[in-house]
Amino acid sequence: MESNIVRIFDTTLRDGEQSPGATMTAAEKLEVARALARMGVDIIEAGFPAASPDDLEAVRRIALEIGNSEDGSPVPVICGLARTIEGDIDKAWEAVKGAAHPRIHTFIATSDIHMQYKLKMDREQVLDQIARMVAHARELCADVEFSPEDAGRSDPEFLYQALEVAIEAGATTLNIPDTVGYTMPDEFGALIAGIIKNTKGIEKCVVSVHCHNDLGLATANTLAGIRAGARQAEVTINGIGERAGNTALEEVVMALHARRQVMDLGTNIDTTQLTRLSKLVSNYTGMSVQPNKAIVGANAFAHEAGIHQDGVLKNTLTYEIMKPETVGLSASKLVLGKHSGRHALKERLISLGYTLDEESLNKLFDRFKTLADKKKTITDADIEALISDEIYQNEVIFTLEGLQVACGTMGLPTATVRLAGPDGETHIHAAIGTGPVDATFKAIDAIVQMDSTLVDFVIHAITEGIDALGEVTVRIATKDLPAVMTAQKEIERPCTFGGYGADTDIIVASAKAYLSAINKMLASTGKYGPVETPAVQAVAG
Ligand code: KIV
Ligand code: ZN
Repeated sequence: MESNIVRIFDTTLRDGEQSPGATMTAAEKLEVARALARMGVDIIEAGFPAASPDDLEAVRRIALEIGNSEDGSPVPVICGLARTIEGDIDKAWEAVKGAAHPRIHTFIATSDIHMQYKLKMDREQVLDQIARMVAHARELCADVEFSPEDAGRSDPEFLYQALEVAIEAGATTLNIPDTVGYTMPDEFGALIAGIIKNTKGIEKCVVSVHCHNDLGLATANTLAGIRAGARQAEVTINGIGERAGNTALEEVVMALHARRQVMDLGTNIDTTQLTRLSKLVSNYTGMSVQPNKAIVGANAFAHEAGIHQDGVLKNTLTYEIMKPETVGLSASKLVLGKHSGRHALKERLISLGYTLDEESLNKLFDRFKTLADKKKTITDADIEALISDEIYQNEVIFTLEGLQVACGTMGLPTATVRLAGPDGETHIHAAIGTGPVDATFKAIDAIVQMDSTLVDFVIHAITEGIDALGEVTVRIATKDLPAVMTAQKEIERPCTFGGYGADTDIIVASAKAYLSAINKMLASTGKYGPVETPAVQAVAG
């Protein structure tokens, strides 16, 4: 690979999914991996196979289905994470070996504080474990990445030693994590420069950076590392990840793109897919993106102040350092209307990157017509929302058949919900609540008989105007606390599930979003067997 290309290593499905509340189902992980591959990500860290048999299976499916191509088109490297423990490494290999380009990523902490309190190991023991376990990984796989965890707080001299041991044992990529997001950009840049200068054999390896955002410096640190010579950046979509998250993929990619004169570096990413990926991950995880988030926030390209609007109307470059189209925000808003036919919708879907089988297309066309009766113009954003509403109903156990709500200042807010259940029967329940949404959710709870807590509930209008489609994302959590194995530790925390719904009626959208999260929670219990998954898929390649 040319040295002016920075490889993008996406860890949304591993470090990102590890963040509280970002759980995704296996089908959702596969869909995200497909979209990442299509966008041009070089390496996908698909999970931590030793965490559970489900994690191993999810990585295995991604390796087989996304890590191979029938027509010989390029596919990303598929990577599995492992501690420097033989069992973890064997499981990671088991999961990734079906990919055309598999990688094992193994790590152990090198900071004094982690070695003393967490590992209870001294430096010699850590070096010995690196030597043995990197060599073991290398016996299985030609592509091995090694990370000295908490490198940002490690003694640089010991770090050079640890990295040399990993190189001698066969590591091909050396990843330097600022695990707790502690360093400053100049410090982190100097750390990478020092590693490149002082580590014997480093020229044989790709140097990578992996930064956390505890001080809001993850992107700045990643760019400082790249300037100092790193040629792989570990990132997540929307910057999701442990605590304050990881470096956001979209920020690093667009910084390199918008400031190429300064950085003289590029990536293999198709930037026009950034907005779609952001939405996909946000909808699957139920973690909404803050409106002022760089690149993908709803306001990232909105100009409110009169003086700004005036400037942008005269020349967009006055206040825009990149074009909205470059990140996939559609320039043409008005696309279809009431009189548009099935063919026009199909063509529009193809240009948006979706292929639908006949049944899904017919279903979507019916929904499109219903929407066109209510709304004069249908934009790309509306179409994407309708698709999302179909796609994101991944696990179909209960379906919404009907909803009637009475609310206002007179009487008690009441909702009557009709659901089709897994037993093929129709279930009806009426409930009162503090408002129409509360009443609706209570009625659903009464039917599905599942104890959960509503953690997050966000409504927003997709387009301007009173007739806009409303989009709802919710996150619910289990009430009991199952043990969750993260890359660093086994902890007890609630499992959370995200849901998405879109409709011109926001109470209907809320019911759909809530039900899709409930269905995922029910599916995770394993009581319902294999559940139906959607037929709608993004076009590959
Ligand atoms: O932040 C970190 O140190 C990690 C390692 C497992 C690479 O995620
Ligand atoms: Zn991390």
